Amino acid sequence: MSEPDISAEETDGRAAATDEANVEPESAGAPADTPLRVANLRKTFGGIVAVDDASFAVEAGSLTGLIGPNGAGKSTTFNCITGAHKPDSGRVEFQGERITGLRPDQIANRGLVRTFQIARSLEEMTVLENLMLAPKGQIGETLWRSVVPGARGKVVAQEEELRERVWETLEFFEIDHLAGQTAGSLSGGQRKLLEMARAMMTEPDMLLLDEPLAGVNPTLEHKLLARIHDLQDEGYTFLLVEHDMDVIMQHCERVIVMHQGSVLAEGEPSVIRNDERVIEAYLGEDV
Ligand SMILES: Nc1ncnc2c1ncn2[C@@H]1O[C@H](COP(=O)(O)OP(=O)(O)OP(=O)(O)O)[C@@H](O)[C@H]1O
Ligand SMILES: [Mg+2]
Repeated sequence: MSEPDISAEETDGRAAATDEANVEPESAGAPADTPLRVANLRKTFGGIVAVDDASFAVEAGSLTGLIGPNGAGKSTTFNCITGAHKPDSGRVEFQGERITGLRPDQIANRGLVRTFQIARSLEEMTVLENLMLAPKGQIGETLWRSVVPGARGKVVAQEEELRERVWETLEFFEIDHLAGQTAGSLSGGQRKLLEMARAMMTEPDMLLLDEPLAGVNPTLEHKLLARIHDLQDEGYTFLLVEHDMDVIMQHCERVIVMHQGSVLAEGEPSVIRNDERVIEAYLGEDV
């Protein structure tokens, strides 16, 4: 089991860096092949210790599973990594830089994006509009630019380019036929596809997927997994929270097991499935 060789400097989440200037440069000796490194992460809610000294690293280009019984701390770990929660202590590094305490948008801008256990699309908007809104740094976002001489053409060109990319993404996830429908009218599975499509529009390097297959029918599940592998072939890195052990065992190269907030085991699926501690943690469940 390889623990990331980075030390936890933060002892108070409130003191964590909140602006880009405070981000440290690449730490000495951090291997480039582990874009995400989590060290000694801790998050409490009142008396509940949701994440308790969790440390792990995710290899570049991998589809790594993050598993564990209900309440093990998987979603809270995602929240701490992506800036939704400030950890009480511990350290998160993405591509060699400390991102602990940065805002979610700052982290997304660095190429680390998540999807939620409960899909968060904009209900009243169409699928197409949901995707048009997703990308970062659109010139069109700042209205004044469209009245500045010479900028108008640039905005139009950029919008056309965006529209093209939106359609490509819709086709990639095979939801182009739903483009005109409101997100609120989609099935659970279609929403998951939409959410992943939205995440891809931000051009991330790594995606954290929190139960992307929950409530997804087998056909869509197959489609989503195929898309994940396609993207993996293109070099994307995935950390996947999933309760379906067959999916984890068949699709992930590595598995990290959380239990009661800590990392209980880490390794190849075949090793994990026979690990006594893991079986015990899932007591009563079929591993
Ligand atoms: N916002 C919160 N306020 C209080 N307690 C929380 C909060 N979020 C999570 N918890 C608690 O922290 C613990 C870990 O929860 P978390 O949602 O991270 O688990 P999980 O591994 O994602 O579980 P599941 O598989 O059911 O999604 C649980 O005891 C949960 O009740
Ligand atoms: Mg969860």
